[in-house]
Amino acid sequence: MSEGKRITTKVSAEEINQQYKYIETIKQYNQGVISSIGKPVRYIIETFGCQMNENDSERLSGMLSGMGYSECSERKDSDLIIFNTCCVRENAEQKVYGHLGALKKLKETNPNLIIAICGCMMQQKDVVEHIKKTYKHVDIVFGTHNLYKFPELLNTAITTRSTVIDVWDSTGSIAENMPISRKENIKAWVTVMYGCNNFCSYCIVPYVRGRERSRSLEEIKNEVEKLAKDGCKEITLLGQNVNSYGKDLEGDLTFAGLLRELNKVQGIERIRFMTSHPKDLSDELIYAMRDCEKVCEHLHLPVQAGSSKILDEMNRRYSKEQYLGLIEKVKSNIPGIALTTDIIVGFPGETEEDFNETLDVVAKARFDMAYTFLYSKRTGTPAAKNPEQIPETVKKQRFDRLLELQNKISKEINDGLLGKELEVLVEGLSKSSKTTYTGRTRENKIVNFKGSPDMVGKLVKVKIEEIQTWSLLGKINK
Ligand code: SAH
Ligand code: SF4
Ligand code: F3S
Repeated sequence: MSEGKRITTKVSAEEINQQYKYIETIKQYNQGVISSIGKPVRYIIETFGCQMNENDSERLSGMLSGMGYSECSERKDSDLIIFNTCCVRENAEQKVYGHLGALKKLKETNPNLIIAICGCMMQQKDVVEHIKKTYKHVDIVFGTHNLYKFPELLNTAITTRSTVIDVWDSTGSIAENMPISRKENIKAWVTVMYGCNNFCSYCIVPYVRGRERSRSLEEIKNEVEKLAKDGCKEITLLGQNVNSYGKDLEGDLTFAGLLRELNKVQGIERIRFMTSHPKDLSDELIYAMRDCEKVCEHLHLPVQAGSSKILDEMNRRYSKEQYLGLIEKVKSNIPGIALTTDIIVGFPGETEEDFNETLDVVAKARFDMAYTFLYSKRTGTPAAKNPEQIPETVKKQRFDRLLELQNKISKEINDGLLGKELEVLVEGLSKSSKTTYTGRTRENKIVNFKGSPDMVGKLVKVKIEEIQTWSLLGKINK
């Protein structure tokens, strides 16, 4: 162990057991309520933001089902409403405030309704103050670091009938063995690390999610083996910066090593992961992707900008040339790999020439898809203090130009798939159909095709016959 290495710890078993006791207490209370009102007690969780939040919401669902709550799909039918929030961009926050305002009426008609709000937004002091002042109908406020304490907080809210606010700063530990109730059976999110140490100058995530904390190999492997036993075929390993996995653990396990370990789990057919940071995408990881047959041919590698000057100001710690070099290396080691990326348009100080560099990277890298964002000022981040903010109209024009180029490239890449036979993991019926099934290729492309119920959860070969904007249409070869 190197000097000064910070080691991630686990929340004590005793503390976890305590939460299970609260789950049981609430369950008994709910049984009383259910028999007196003659119908189930119901909850709805509305999740904003990234897959980490989706996974956290699955944990909340697990706790709630243990407490005897049933999930429902309408706010008006709910006895408990939870908003799991995101603050990565301003519009994400505005959305939450809009929804929160709309709950006031509901609470007036149903005073027993409990409203809880959690997630990244709550890790900002001014947000909590604003909610306290403006949205008095909120009953429970908690953050990302004490999610596992939700049973206790809910119990306090139920017994005291007063507002409960509990938000922690990062603790450096991880809560294991709490219940989880997943949305899907065939695919599952598996969080392998929490937090981020990168401090990109525009980004709020390190402030609201705390420092990097890795889960132990043992815990991750147990979870994945259990998933496989329950019929799961595909896992997506989650972390803000998965390449740093293991740096805070005893021993020398890396993310590449983790992939090699999980590749051995029987029953799992596919492994994906996100997100990788280009600055530490190691050769070791590229070789692990190449060697592990379950690791899919897809890499999400956010570039954020094309100009080396802007990348430097973003504190990304790579240049345009280094990024393009990295992509070449990935493509030559893993033929046919699909690349996706994130791009921010209108970072403070971005000139027309800088933006043209972004277009140049997009043209050269030939991403399968890009998630594009208008730069959004986040209070507390260094970039927010930069006086050279870009006017909205300029940002929007650049955004449209970027989209036009990327859409053209995406279409060209997808057109190249016409007539090809691709392996698809069948997920189920597509939304509005009784005979069309949907699934994804190893490259993460959505494919729709005529199928049958017995195909769900299986790998099938589909011949691509038509290219649509967001998906491919194909036919099963019999
Ligand atoms: N850890 C991941 C993803 C973090 S958030 C990564 O490093 O890629 C997802 C994306 O949101 C980022 O990749 C970035 O493109 C975008 N983003 C983050 N902060 C932003 C901001 N202030 N304005 C606009 N987009 C932002
Ligand atoms: Fe934000 Fe950068 Fe961390 Fe991603 S790597 S979460 S963009 S600070
Ligand atoms: Fe948003 Fe938090 Fe994810 S800020 S993007 S939900 S880590």
